[in-house]
Amino acid sequence: MSGTTQPATLYPVPAEFASQARIGSRAAYDELVASAQADYPGYWAKHARDLLTWHKPFTKSLDESQAPFFKWFEDGELNASYNCLDRHVEAGLGDKVAIIFESDDGIVTKVTYKELLGRVSRLANALKTQGVQKGDRVVLYLPMSVDGVIAMQACARIGATHSVVFGGFSAQSLRDRIEDAGAVLVITADEQKRGGKNLPLKAIVDEAIALGGCDSVKQVLVVRRTGGSIPFVEGRDAWLEDVCAKESDVCAPEWVSAEHPLFLLYTSGSTGKPKGVQHSTGGYLLHATLTTQWTFDLRPDDVFWCTADIGWVTGHTYVTYGPLSCGGTQVVFEGVPTYPDAARFWRMIEAHKVSIFYTAPTAIRALIKAAETNADVHPRQFNLTSLRLLGTVGEPINPAAWEWYHREIGAGKCPIVDTFWQTETGGHMITPLPGAHALTPGSCTLPFPGIDAAVVDETGKEVPWGQGGVLVVRKPWPSMIRTIWNDPERFKKSYYPADYNGKYYLAGDGAIRDAETGYFTITGRIDDVLNVSGHRMGTMEIESALVSHPLVAEAAVVGRPDDLTGEAICAFVVLKRSRPTGDEAKQLATVLRNHVGTEIGPIAKPKDIRFGDNLPKTRSGKIMRRLLRVIAKGDAVTQDTSTLENPAILDQLAQSN
Ligand code: PRX
Repeated sequence: MSGTTQPATLYPVPAEFASQARIGSRAAYDELVASAQADYPGYWAKHARDLLTWHKPFTKSLDESQAPFFKWFEDGELNASYNCLDRHVEAGLGDKVAIIFESDDGIVTKVTYKELLGRVSRLANALKTQGVQKGDRVVLYLPMSVDGVIAMQACARIGATHSVVFGGFSAQSLRDRIEDAGAVLVITADEQKRGGKNLPLKAIVDEAIALGGCDSVKQVLVVRRTGGSIPFVEGRDAWLEDVCAKESDVCAPEWVSAEHPLFLLYTSGSTGKPKGVQHSTGGYLLHATLTTQWTFDLRPDDVFWCTADIGWVTGHTYVTYGPLSCGGTQVVFEGVPTYPDAARFWRMIEAHKVSIFYTAPTAIRALIKAAETNADVHPRQFNLTSLRLLGTVGEPINPAAWEWYHREIGAGKCPIVDTFWQTETGGHMITPLPGAHALTPGSCTLPFPGIDAAVVDETGKEVPWGQGGVLVVRKPWPSMIRTIWNDPERFKKSYYPADYNGKYYLAGDGAIRDAETGYFTITGRIDDVLNVSGHRMGTMEIESALVSHPLVAEAAVVGRPDDLTGEAICAFVVLKRSRPTGDEAKQLATVLRNHVGTEIGPIAKPKDIRFGDNLPKTRSGKIMRRLLRVIAKGDAVTQDTSTLENPAILDQLAQSN
């Protein structure tokens, strides 16, 4: 992102959109912001009462007594699955389609709210029969599927805490998460289908458990997806359909405190192993519901499609919880945007008459590239007139991709909501409300009403508009991370460090506000976290994976800009033997890339691996990552290198590409 302070092009709110939108003007937005300022706990309490169905009403909105471990609506009781399913069926919407599922191979299945409730209840009963209790953790390692949504909802129904692990993570990563969460049960599938290929899942669960440390796991339930033959461990493994067949399709929801942990989701930080971000039930569900209504302006007759996998937070909030809590109809897609060809998204929008479409900038960039070289997959070949709103998430969107998305997909008439948020924030933090905000390509515009985001300097003082700084949130909000599972100290250190004032939530991103409009632009992470294709990864994790290979003495990982994936992973490696060159270097790079794939997962494989005799270090032995970033980008090093122990290494690394 440019971080420019020049007023960029503003796209006014289309009058037709504004006239029907829930928040239909800038004045309406300003009013909401003012009402949140006037009575902050009261503002959230009002929405929590209006939008959620409580079994027992709460008496207190925000409890700050143990800050930064904030609590919201704590003495209130509710159930997330009841809010997503039962209340719609009770309101007469049982026959409404909740999910339009399209498989990788193009088979479409529709599931109504009534059917979904029955299937969730059966699985919830099955989990209880297996001995899963309120508060137990259940790990889900599943394809993008109706079963995935059902498994999450079934856990919520009985008060078990789910932890979904993305199906692209390796056995080692899965093992680490199972162990840290202390999961009692794992739900997986025999295989998953992606891009025409069958990929193993159950086999990876077996491998993960065999690695050790997973003694807490008593049961593995397996969804039959491809029907491939897979070995079962006697007494531990069972087909999910078999155990569900024995159960009733009625299951009373377990009422839990609003603070009860709904889920853990592991995400990367700048240090150490991935952290288990713990979310609450009430505050989280409130924000999932409210943002679905205001940011996406979801209506009863909309067809909503969020393309994110349930393995990421976007798939939690805007597939499993937000749209269902609002009683919406949504598309769930098993496959990938480029199979059978790069028109898959456009064909599906046409076929299912999608009206709200939410995806990642990386996907848009890849599809632009495909459309530019092959007219058959150009969106203009398809009827996309059902669309009324577009959205992006996960990484900055470059203005050129924004303009294309707006023009070619949205026919110049659909607003684009560029939603900034994080695994830790639970839902949108800075985002346009499409009926209220004129848009600037590349800017996520203004904070969601009630979110007190600011750009500050190291002391926590707000910087003037037009000046870059660090993004913080000054007040707690209902859907915020509650803690890091098993590690409250790390929670405090990571998000409420003593610098930046100690009382503000530190997002880990830099930001700048436009000098005229005050609109926010996210300038990227300020820590050692990379964002590759919208997937978040810690450089330390990748470094640890590299040095766990017997040939590697030392490794440093940095990001470099990439036109397609936003950022690309670049690793500098010192071997325990002499530095390889030519073909040997290429072969070894492949070996190490695959090793990282085995340790973490294919998404973490470095794009570049460069070998050196050593790494640029200060005299005190600190690796100079700043210089490695310059080299990775292909730029000449112009910085002062006099503090380096070994300046000559820079030339070697620069030439080692
Ligand atoms: O750097 C920001 C970037 O993604 C990070 C959060 O990643 P994760 O927890 O995996 O959640 C992604 C989906 C919510 C942020 O710290 N990011 C997310 N959305 C945007 C963004 N960067 C710029 N613009 C966005 N809209």
